[in-house]
Amino acid sequence: MEMIYKVAVATHVIAATIWVGGVLFMALVAIPVARTLEPKMRVRVTSAIGRRFQRVGWASLGWLVLSGSFMMYFWGARWANLTDLSFFQAPHTRVLSLKLGLVTLMLLLSLTHDFFVGPRASQSESAAQAARYRTMAAWQGRITGVLVIVIVILATMVARPWLV
Ligand code: HEM
Repeated sequence: MEMIYKVAVATHVIAATIWVGGVLFMALVAIPVARTLEPKMRVRVTSAIGRRFQRVGWASLGWLVLSGSFMMYFWGARWANLTDLSFFQAPHTRVLSLKLGLVTLMLLLSLTHDFFVGPRASQSESAAQAARYRTMAAWQGRITGVLVIVIVILATMVARPWLV
């Protein structure tokens, strides 16, 4: 059990670096560079990168939820103390509950970005509508960027209860 926990922690951090690194790379590098390209090329490049990162990103998010759930189980989380919220009474698990709240918000934002706003930004009939969806997608990307940074800061506190 201890060995599985160690593997869960290590792979959780690797999955986090793929997701957080990918989100920040898109916002700070890929999208700004794509903006320098001519419109047709820009749409092709951002869609291709976006589609590729979608697969890698959702796979790492899936592993974050799986490995994170196991680590909580290893810490003693069970249906009873999760539903009566007593598991979240300690200072570091209270921080974990805040982290999980932000992760849920980030998942909802990424879902609407990837499966609603993003596709409409590249496929809309009218140029005005496409521009509106591109602006919305850009803001979703920025907010997700801020959220993942806050999530990692909270995560380091969760892993070190003596700091909280
Ligand atoms: C975007 C999503 C997430 C990111 C970026 C993330 C990031 C991290 C990082 C970087 C750590 C290690 C902190 C350290 O050792 O300094 C960590 C620890 C942890 N994460 Fe996450 N995490 C995410 C989602 C989740 C989810 C969904 C869960 C629960 C279902 C979770 C539960 C935990 C737990 C329990 C720890 C402490 C592990 C330990 O040290 O025993 N995380 N997380």
